[in-house]
Amino acid sequence: MSSPSAVKQEVFGKMSDGREVKIFTLTNQNGLEARVTEYGAILVSMKTPDKVGKSADITHGYDDLAGWLTNTNYFGATIGRFGNRIKDGKFTLDGKPYTLATNNDPSGLPCHLHGGIKGFDKVLWSGKPTAENGVQFTYVSKDGEEGYPGNLTVKVTYTLTGDNELKWEACATTDAPTILNLVHHTYWNLSGDPGTSINDHVLMLAAPNYLPTDAGLIPTGVIAPVAGTPLDFTKPTVIGERVDADFEALAFSGGYDHAWVFEKGTGVRLAARVKDPKSGRVMEISTDQPAIQFYGGNFLAGTVAGKGGVKYARRSALCLETEGFPDSPNKPSFPSPVLRPGETYRHVMIHKFTAEQPSSIPSESIT
Ligand code: GLA
Repeated sequence: MSSPSAVKQEVFGKMSDGREVKIFTLTNQNGLEARVTEYGAILVSMKTPDKVGKSADITHGYDDLAGWLTNTNYFGATIGRFGNRIKDGKFTLDGKPYTLATNNDPSGLPCHLHGGIKGFDKVLWSGKPTAENGVQFTYVSKDGEEGYPGNLTVKVTYTLTGDNELKWEACATTDAPTILNLVHHTYWNLSGDPGTSINDHVLMLAAPNYLPTDAGLIPTGVIAPVAGTPLDFTKPTVIGERVDADFEALAFSGGYDHAWVFEKGTGVRLAARVKDPKSGRVMEISTDQPAIQFYGGNFLAGTVAGKGGVKYARRSALCLETEGFPDSPNKPSFPSPVLRPGETYRHVMIHKFTAEQPSSIPSESIT
C-alpha cells in the first residue's frame, strides 16, 4: 500500500470564475500513470506499457485545462446525474413530473443526455488523496440542479493498484427521492496512436442481451438476445468486421452505440475485454452494474483538436460505460434508477491493464 504522499498534486489551472483546479498523478511500480482532475472528476490521461514495455497515453482528451473546459464529447468524464439518455427529458417520480434539458437529438428526436447542459462532467469537484494510491472527489449537487430533485452528495474515487487496475468507484446519498446513473466515460485507443481507428481492436462483451432502441436511441423496453446479430461479442471479435453491417440497430447510431445487458447477478464480474493486436495492450473491465454502453466513437468527426493537436477522427476511440439501463426512469420493467434518503448508490468499475504477445491472441479473433 502506498502512502498518501505517493500521489502527486499540482495546480492544473483556473475555472473562468477564478476557482483553482487541481490535478493529481497516480503511478505504480509497473510504470502505469493515471492523471485525474477536479474538473469533471475527469481521467485526464492513462499511460500503460505495450507488449515491449513502451508506455503511451491511451485516452483521448486535451493537453491543458483550457482544452478540457471545451470538452463537449465527455472525454474521460464522470457523468451525472443521469448518464445516457432519457426520452424527451421527462420522467415521473412518486407521481410528480420532472422536465430536464433536452441537449441531444439523434434523428431529430430530442432527449436528455449525460446529465444535461452542465452535468457533473462540467463542474468543479473537490479532490483529496486517499491512503491507497487514489484520489477521492466529492461534489454536492443542489436540489433542482439541472432539474433533478434532492440534494445529492457524490463521491468518486480513482485508485491505481499494484496489480495494474484503475478503479473508479462511485457512491452517493440524497435527502429526497431522485434518480441516478453515474457513468465513467473515457475514450480509449489502446494502440496509443489516436490517429488510428479502433476498428481493429478485438472486443469481448460478457453480455448475452442488448437493448434495441428507436431512431432517437431510446430503448424500446425490449431486452433482446445478441445471438445471430452483429452485436454478438460474447466471443472476442474484431470491431470493424460487422460495424457497418445492414442491421437496424447499427443504422440508427451509425455504428456501435448500444447498451449490452449482462446475465442477472450480483457482485463485481468481468464485463468486457478489449485488445489492440498491434501493441498487445489489453483492457479488462469489471463491474457491479447491470449494463454496459459500448460506443464506437461514431460521432467523432475529425473537428476537435485534442492532445498534441490531433484531430480525433470518427471511430478513433471507443467508450465502455458501465451503467444502469438508459431511459430506466420511464421503463418500470428496467432496474430502478431511483435513490431514496437512507439508501446509498454504489457503482464499481475496474479497468485492468495488461499487454500480450501476438501469439496469445485467441485463434477465433484472427481474421
Ligand atoms: C455516449 C452516447 C453516444 C454519444 C456519446 C457522447 O456514449 O451513447 O451516443 O452521445 O456519449 O458523444
